Amino acid sequence: MRQVLVTDAVGKKLPAELDGVSLRKAYARWAPVYDLVFGPVFERGRRAATAAAERVGGRILEVGVGTGISLPGYSSQNRIIGIDLSAEMLCKAQRRVAGLSLTNVEKLEVMDAEHLSFADASFDVVVANHVISTVPNPEAALDECARMLRPGGEMILLSRIGADAGLRHLVERLLQPIVCRLGWRAEFRWDRFVRWTEGRTDVRLIERRPMPPFGHFSLLRFVKFEQGAGASAPQTGGFAADRTCNCQRGMLR
Ligand SMILES: C[S@@+](CC[C@H](N)C(=O)[O-])C[C@H]1O[C@@H](n2cnc3c(N)ncnc32)[C@H](O)[C@@H]1O
Repeated sequence: MRQVLVTDAVGKKLPAELDGVSLRKAYARWAPVYDLVFGPVFERGRRAATAAAERVGGRILEVGVGTGISLPGYSSQNRIIGIDLSAEMLCKAQRRVAGLSLTNVEKLEVMDAEHLSFADASFDVVVANHVISTVPNPEAALDECARMLRPGGEMILLSRIGADAGLRHLVERLLQPIVCRLGWRAEFRWDRFVRWTEGRTDVRLIERRPMPPFGHFSLLRFVKFEQGAGASAPQTGGFAADRTCNCQRGMLR
């Protein structure tokens, strides 16, 4: 695929891909205002994702939990663990957990979604809201999320789905280098999820539901099978560094 390159106001070339260092910087900047900017606009999607996670229940891993904006939506019977690359975002989450006395949140930890440190099959549900299209290597993060699930468990994602072709696709490609600086991708085609799913014999897509704004986002539900057992299952819905928050050291665990 041809690389899209743009330059900034002083003629410096802007990178069109994400990396861990620039992501940490971007989300350190977003942390103080994230809820204000992205709270209401993604509220319906978050509610739908939490409701889907609650239907399975049990031990829930929220990957890229950010400021913990969705944490108050989980019922007290479930046990929640949240991880995120950004210590600044997690500090906001920690304050929310303390302020709302969310006793069902067991742990918040700085961790890379592409290298999760939990044992295989240790969760009933993995939730990743608006995260997969922001990580440097989405397929590695998806593999890690799937590894976390016990057979029968569900992976629930909210994700931006870019256009496959046409004017919107062109605009997304052109915006990609600028949007990368903000901490996400403008261009993220559905076929990335399709190819990832096709490469696995233990994971199947069971739902794809368009979400606002403008249906450019989707709620995706995947179910985990015993290795190989999912190959004959019907496909529906079309078609993962550990650091402690330094603002309240010791509070995150
Ligand atoms: C757009 S925010 C979404 C936050 C929250 N899930 C929500 O729904 O509002 C993306 C989050 O993913 C985190 N993130 C990005 N790459 C990550 C990675 N490789 N590992 C863990 N978290 C990551 C960012 O730090 C940020 O908090």
